[in-house]
Amino acid sequence: LRVAVFASGQGSNFQALADAAADGKLGGSIELLVCDRASAPVVERARRAGIDAWVFDSSAYASREAYEGEILAELQRRGVGLVVLAGYMRILTPVLVDAYAGRMINIHPSLLPAFPGMHAIRQALNYGVKVTGVTIHFVDGGLDSGPIIAQRALEIGEGESEASLAERIHAAENALYPWAVRGFAEGRISLDGRRALVSAGAG
Ligand code: GRF
Repeated sequence: LRVAVFASGQGSNFQALADAAADGKLGGSIELLVCDRASAPVVERARRAGIDAWVFDSSAYASREAYEGEILAELQRRGVGLVVLAGYMRILTPVLVDAYAGRMINIHPSLLPAFPGMHAIRQALNYGVKVTGVTIHFVDGGLDSGPIIAQRALEIGEGESEASLAERIHAAENALYPWAVRGFAEGRISLDGRRALVSAGAG
């Protein structure tokens, strides 16, 4: 399986996926990083891992569809079979979402459908929920709304800081995401209409 990772920022999930691939534990290879910010730390991580990066400046394009068309052509040229969103901060259009329906996954730092959007960790803390976590889901064009593949719950400690919760969430994400990619690569995770199918052997 050829995988492309889309990321805009730190890239701790990109790193976890690249490390798993290097250890032969991803069930596939990372062909490409797609990034919308040249200065993002994830770009340097790709360089160090020897993974090609397709870095673009959205302001150089007339529309989202225009740059997504170029990205799609690059993915197809490389035979990418799975798109993994890992902190990609742009809304996707049907150009990519439809082309990769059932073959595009995202990770989100809450127990969806609670707290979609950009500030999930802070919102969970401010709301006062006692349990939050991590969700991996297929991408369907809505905001953090597609069929759920896997979730891990974390209890929020008394007086826990946002930094401490964020660190525990990222650790959970970094452990869970390579597992999901491998499950997909081995055919144990798939999309069936509106449901994600995850076979018992997954993992
Ligand atoms: C993660 O918390 C992920 O859930 C969210 O964006 C963050 C990316 O972190 N979608 P990193 O760049 O992988 O470190």
